[in-house]
Amino acid sequence: MKYTVEGFDRDKLLLHETLFHNANGYLGVRSCFEEGYPEGTDSIRGMYINGVYNTVDMPQPEAFFGFATEKEVLVNIADPQSIDLMLGKENLCVFCDLCGEIISFKRELDMDAGTAARRVHWRSKKGKEIILTVTRMASFARRSLFTIEYAVTSVNFTGELRLTSGHTHQVTNHGSPGDPRVADKPLGHWGRSVNYISEPERGSTAVSTASRSGITVCTAVRHKVNGLYWDGHDFTAQMKPGMTVTLEKYVVASDSRRGSRPMIRADNEMKKVLSRPLPEHYKAQKAFLTKFWKTAAVTIEGDAEAESFNLAMRYNLYQLLQSAPADSLCGMAAKGLSGEGYEGHCFWDGEMFAFPPLLLTQPETALTMLRFRHGTLPKARENARLLGHKNSALFPWRTISGAESSGYFPAGTAQYHINGDIAYAVVQYYFATGDMDFMRKAGLELLLEICRLWLDLGHYHNGRFVINGVTGPDEYTCMVNNNYYTNALAKHNLSWTVHIARKMGYTHPELEDFKRAAEAMYLPYDAVLGINPQDDSFLQKPLWDIDGTPESRFPLLLHYHPMQLFRHQVCKQADVVMSHFILEEYADKDAIEKSFLYYEKITTHDSSLSKPIFCAVAARLGLMDKALSYFRDSVSLDLNDTHSNSADGIHTANSGGAYIALIYGFAGLRLTEDGVSFTPHLPEGWNRLSFTVIHKGKTIPVRIERDGEGYQVSMG
Ligand code: BGC
Repeated sequence: MKYTVEGFDRDKLLLHETLFHNANGYLGVRSCFEEGYPEGTDSIRGMYINGVYNTVDMPQPEAFFGFATEKEVLVNIADPQSIDLMLGKENLCVFCDLCGEIISFKRELDMDAGTAARRVHWRSKKGKEIILTVTRMASFARRSLFTIEYAVTSVNFTGELRLTSGHTHQVTNHGSPGDPRVADKPLGHWGRSVNYISEPERGSTAVSTASRSGITVCTAVRHKVNGLYWDGHDFTAQMKPGMTVTLEKYVVASDSRRGSRPMIRADNEMKKVLSRPLPEHYKAQKAFLTKFWKTAAVTIEGDAEAESFNLAMRYNLYQLLQSAPADSLCGMAAKGLSGEGYEGHCFWDGEMFAFPPLLLTQPETALTMLRFRHGTLPKARENARLLGHKNSALFPWRTISGAESSGYFPAGTAQYHINGDIAYAVVQYYFATGDMDFMRKAGLELLLEICRLWLDLGHYHNGRFVINGVTGPDEYTCMVNNNYYTNALAKHNLSWTVHIARKMGYTHPELEDFKRAAEAMYLPYDAVLGINPQDDSFLQKPLWDIDGTPESRFPLLLHYHPMQLFRHQVCKQADVVMSHFILEEYADKDAIEKSFLYYEKITTHDSSLSKPIFCAVAARLGLMDKALSYFRDSVSLDLNDTHSNSADGIHTANSGGAYIALIYGFAGLRLTEDGVSFTPHLPEGWNRLSFTVIHKGKTIPVRIERDGEGYQVSMG
């Protein structure tokens, strides 16, 4: 399937740099024009390697004990994207009428071929007409490889064509003051940095070392012209009408986190890359994607709207694949590798939103994500000590390599539920795969450390186990006692850890403490409203006047002091509703429905993580109009730029959320220790939903069809 945009829209340049980016879990390249842009054009020209970061100061003007004073940031590495195109003395420039005229312009993401393309039919001021076709690929078969195929066809041009390929290591990160979701100023991160012209091939190799993390990155660039090796950066040809010249640019990246001597590794890898023609690399990419879609594809059949969702779903799943970590040295960043939003940090987005679809369709990638967290346990232990906890681990709210990088603790470090989210993912992994090897080597250790933290954090009060002074998922309500989501998740973590540990023959007396705390866990319930309050004081607060708040003042976080928000009943995102979705066993249907209707009225959905969960719960409750409306908004969130910030990167949690809404919501999938089951509720215009799940090594095609008033579910 292809996602295509026709026509050139200067106002959408930044957005399209994100939407058409190429990534493969190891490297990511924004879709910038090779020819560059005129002065003053907004562009975030970037290439990133997953897990490659620098550290920067995070000054705390009031330096209280234990505040993070330094953070990790994903660094923009050397820029290999540039190619300058001259037709005689005229430069290709699509931006102004003075240079020429665009006859047609099209961008296309081919999700079966794994390439993104740009096709421009252009006539210069002096009437020289060409068709430029640029095809880019971040290879899944060889994760260090990114390619640009730059083909120029002359329509009527006779004369000299000159292509000049650039590779610069002098790059900075992007900054945008006034938005806490991105860095506030552009920063350079490279200390030592050199660009070699490597002999004998005359390719260029940039080697740069980040000023503080000390991580070294190498990008090697080589060229072929019309399929033949070209030892330089400048190429000229005498063009005639109908003639095509194709410059192939090969970029291989390596870094010192993955091994020593990155330059030698990149050069060796490059030799292997160049020994095969580009079509062979495309073939390997296609083969990878054919295999991927075999388990990942989802198809909705029904009315025109129902079927229109298929393309957007494909797009979301493709983005998850592009963003999913290629190895366990890194996680799944909130923006994947598509931009610098949230400075490349991983949050709970990974475990709670991106993980579920991967677990059911690419379990090996889900495993990589858990291994990443396990690898950061030593830092999580340090973090727990810093926050005054004994013998346990506390995972950071936001991070790249495991160190806490959140500077605003009320809506950051205080989100202790991140620990519970990771343990929840481990238990889900155990349910879906039964992989006892992982449980023995890493899973049980993660569970035990997390449960120890719950015991140290909470305490008994009047016979109930309570957890005070934490923040739940809703970032408009901070530092509260007994956040329902956190307590319910802690209860789940504790009881499943006891069960799994005993099954594995672990019999330490601490299990008794876990069991007791799980059984005594306090889960707030309000008998008058019949709902679960978000926390102990939530229902005492006045309601925020959402209807009376001007449209222009959303998202609220950009227009109101956090304390003003904290004093009101107003939610940024699903919180109790989220816990009813993942832990429905702790509430009855009536409380789930009443809570849904209550929180729906006070939720702004300022976070992209919100609507998919409201969709899933509405679908399970059979509130189909609501479910469909939430789904519509979630499934195309990036494609429609609904949150007006997709320019800074895709929203991977929402992409995973759209799958969750569809499969866990509409199809009603439940995953337990006993297997998978389905209780479907499809919207009116939908007749059939087909997808595949992998359970304990078995690939199971699932088809849900309307059958009179009910549904027929076929598995296998
Ligand atoms: C949300 C968090 C989320 C983060 C990164 C915030 O706006 O409130 O729940 O983890 O974005 O996506």
